[in-house]
Parts: sequence; structure tokens; C-alpha cells
Amino acid sequence: MSPAQATTKRIAILADVHGNLPALEAVLEDIEVQAPDEVLVGGDLVGRGPQGSAVIREIRRRGWVSIRGNHEEYLLSFRRHDVPPDWLHLDEWAAARWMAAELSEDDIEYLGTLAFSARCDSIPQLLLTHGSPVATSDGLGPWTRASKLDRLLAGIEESVLVCGHTHRPMVRELDHGLVVNVGSVGLPFNGDRRAQYAIFTWVDGDCRVELRQVEYDLEETLSAYRTTGFFEAGGVTAELLRLELLHATPFLVPFQRWADAIGKPPETGRLDEFLDFYEPDEPLRDFFLRIESMFERPC
Ligand SMILES: [Fe+2]
Ligand SMILES: [Fe+2]
Repeated sequence: MSPAQATTKRIAILADVHGNLPALEAVLEDIEVQAPDEVLVGGDLVGRGPQGSAVIREIRRRGWVSIRGNHEEYLLSFRRHDVPPDWLHLDEWAAARWMAAELSEDDIEYLGTLAFSARCDSIPQLLLTHGSPVATSDGLGPWTRASKLDRLLAGIEESVLVCGHTHRPMVRELDHGLVVNVGSVGLPFNGDRRAQYAIFTWVDGDCRVELRQVEYDLEETLSAYRTTGFFEAGGVTAELLRLELLHATPFLVPFQRWADAIGKPPETGRLDEFLDFYEPDEPLRDFFLRIESMFERPC
């Protein structure tokens, strides 16, 4: 077949916006220029950021299909009070309560309709899930063994598995096909603060992937933290999320795991001690091993 006869389809997939409206707006502008045939959204529109409702509005306005991430599940659980009773008053969950309350009834109804996975018309060989085909919180990242990725591919009908959740973009070619993590629009963890997403080009059975990075004004996002009241209400969690935005690396989960390891509540008063201990450049797996070995408690 000559190049002129080849069928080319392009789709954009974005995920993990996390209530960061300025980052989403920058990606929307970039998508407009790229003009793909179709756009899919890989979940975690909300949570870990103050403008979840506005993000939902922008996605719905365009009629794009989104799936649900673990943060949609968390905030729905908070709204339904379907969480452990402590979570409804402890400081460490203040940010989650604030983000759940920020959503309208219409937003909640919409989030409740989101499916676990999605396929698209343009590339029938592509399956989108938030974490993995097993669970929304089963994260796939550069550290995931090839044998696991290949097993996941062998378990689905499609040859291209696309995911988000770990906030770390990757493209992995395996025996059974391709696994792609599109990274995060609103809260990347790969050391690059820019908003990230991916464009897939399908040419007669061949899938090419372009990971894209888009500059945006981080100060606008931090300004939204202040003007919406999120920073004041969100306590230590909001401060850790601010650090995640600035460093494009995890702070919140390491803080929670460290507090758990020393047997203390993850409160604001312990933040300085944690920041003295934590090395943001250290791979997370090494950090977890370090705190396990240092603070191992007797059974
Ligand atoms: Fe996420
Ligand atoms: Fe997630």
C-alpha cells in the first residue's frame, strides 16, 4: 500500500490532572494545535488539588470519554461517608474532605458513571485503564518487571495497554505488545514539572507514541491553592502537595509511610523532622526499604 493509501489515526490520552486547572488548560491548548481524531481521559481528574470541579467541567464540555481513577473512588467514598469514621475528623484527611466537598452534586453523579476501562473507535487495538487491568491502584511504572507487563498484555484482547496513576511516563515494548504510561498532567513525579500527556498515531496496525510535555504557569496553580481556601483547610497534606508540584516528585506518601514507621500520626508538627530525613532524589523503593530497616518495630 502506498503512503497515500495508508490509514492514519491519532488520539490524545491524558490522565492524572488532579484538580490542576492551569496545567489542564495548557494541555488543552496543545491538543487543539495537535488536532487528534479522538481524546481519552485516564482518570484522577480530581483529588490532590483544589480545582476538581472546574477540571470535570472542562472535560465534560468537550464530550471526551474518561474512565475513573482511584481518586474518583476516594472522593466518592468521602461524599457518601463510606470511609472509616476517623477519616471524617482527623487532620490528616482534612484535604480529602475539602476536595470532596468542593464537588457539586452534578460532579458526583458524573464521577459515579465513569467506567473502569475504555476503548476507542480510532485505535481498536488500544485499551485504557487507570492503574492496570487488575485495579485502579495497581501502578505500572519504569520499575515494573517486563514479565508482569507481558502477563497483563497476554490477559487482554488488545495489543496496546495505556495507563496513568504512577505519574511517571513510560513506553515499553514487550512480546505481547506495548504498555504506555502517559504520565500526569497536574502532578508529574518524573522530576519534570511540565504538564504531560501522550499522542498515539496508528498507521495500518503500527502504533507510534509521542510523550508530550507542556509548559504552564505553576504560580497560577499555587495561587489557586491560596484563593480557593485549599491551602488553609488542607493542612499538612496541602503543604506536601505544594512540595510535590515544585519538585515533581512524591512527598505525601513518603511522609505518611515515614510517620507510620516511627509510629506517630502524620501531623504538621512533624513536617520539619521528615524534611530533614527525606531525600526527594532517592528512588521511592529505596526510601521505603530505608525506613523499614531503620524503624523496624518488634511484632
Ligand atoms: Fe494520580
Ligand atoms: Fe491514581
